[in-house]
Amino acid sequence: MSSEVKSLKLAKAGFNKIEWADRGMPVVASIREELRKSKPLKGMNISACLHVTAETANLMRTLSEGGAKVALCASNPLSTQDEVAASLVKDFGIDVYAVRGVGRDAYYRHIKKALAIEPEITMDDGADLVTLIHQNGVHGERPPMGGTEETTTGVIRLKSLAASGKLRYPIIAINDADTKHFFDNRYGTGQSTVDGIIRATNLLLAGKNFVVCGYGWCGRGVASRARGMGAQVIVIEVDAVRALEAVMDGFRVLPLKEAAKIGDIFVTVTGNTTVLGKEHFALMKDGAVLANSGHFDVEIDLKTLKTMTKSVRETRPLVEEYLLKTGRRVFVLGQGRLVNLACAEGHPSSVMDMSFANQALSVVYLKQKAGALGREVIDVPKEIDKKVAALKLKTLGISIDTLSDEQEKYLNSWELGT
Ligand code: NAI
Repeated sequence: MSSEVKSLKLAKAGFNKIEWADRGMPVVASIREELRKSKPLKGMNISACLHVTAETANLMRTLSEGGAKVALCASNPLSTQDEVAASLVKDFGIDVYAVRGVGRDAYYRHIKKALAIEPEITMDDGADLVTLIHQNGVHGERPPMGGTEETTTGVIRLKSLAASGKLRYPIIAINDADTKHFFDNRYGTGQSTVDGIIRATNLLLAGKNFVVCGYGWCGRGVASRARGMGAQVIVIEVDAVRALEAVMDGFRVLPLKEAAKIGDIFVTVTGNTTVLGKEHFALMKDGAVLANSGHFDVEIDLKTLKTMTKSVRETRPLVEEYLLKTGRRVFVLGQGRLVNLACAEGHPSSVMDMSFANQALSVVYLKQKAGALGREVIDVPKEIDKKVAALKLKTLGISIDTLSDEQEKYLNSWELGT
């Protein structure tokens, strides 16, 4: 084993954290039990580039108990929980290459180390691992048999790779499963983004002008949770349908240049680049707080902000004060990286339970279908999505109704009308 973690001495705290998260992940636990018995992944190597959190640890345990050899690296330099990484190595025998706060060189060195086991399957959150395989031929001549992708931004990158005809193996878009984005992106990102902002700043949200840029799956969640805390939420969109949806959901929709003048807190969650830029920084009030919850740290244009700034200092952990040449100050949380992971602990485990159940079952599916799938980005099979929903309801102790034969027939007929 050749892991690279901060310190194995942290393992005890990490173990406790993993155990706590496991309590919220009964669906993954039941899949783990299934895989432990049947060992469908026996002899397989899996390289995973995911946020190294307690929830991810429970997914890694599951794959390992299913018979796979797993190597894990981080999908963001600031999202690693060092104690979890230590416990994965020490208590669960999993190779981990992840240290919170590393620079770009170490980040990519870790990805390369995770790939050194020559995986049959890759697992990504943001497509950095797959991109490296494709750009640098890190994997040589034999590409993996399949892969999975966790997030919206990763799926967009991979679809672009597939459209160029260069994708070398099939990838399942976990993000696009209903039991993933309906819940993880909306309720997970919604709650944990607000959590990250509060943990970093201890600000009172009630009465604040809270600007949410992007009203997609994540943005809807962030906006509704911020409203729940009493904030006056303003939504920014570029898509007319989404903007209309925000209006009818009861939010104020404004162009960003107008919102920039009145916002107290800004959250970008678009998956796009340079959403908050020079023209917006110039208009902001003294004391505006900027956070990003989109996948990459490109949504707030920090490079340009620096050119407008006299000095930068860390005023609280993960809160940087940019003193502008105009004398106004803006505060940037978590270096503009995913605020929910940099400043809090990421999504609650009970929502990752569904995302990672899709991951585990999709990995088994890829193994079963080895060689039979095209080099494209494919959906999570409907049976898996439905199985995850049914298992989650069961663990929540909730039963639902079933269609009668008559209803089934009615819904499938065109003859029966007025
Ligand atoms: P989505 O595609 O559902 O929504 C994105 C929205 O942003 C769209 O409505 C789009 O019209 C809008 N948008 C794009 N450019 C914009 C601009 N310049 N100004 C205003 N609005 C703009 O995507 P989703 O699922 O909400 O994901 C958003 C980002 O969050 C992605 O990068 C995704 O990978 C990431 N993500 C982060 C998570 C976290 O833990 N923080 C969890 C899940 C996803």
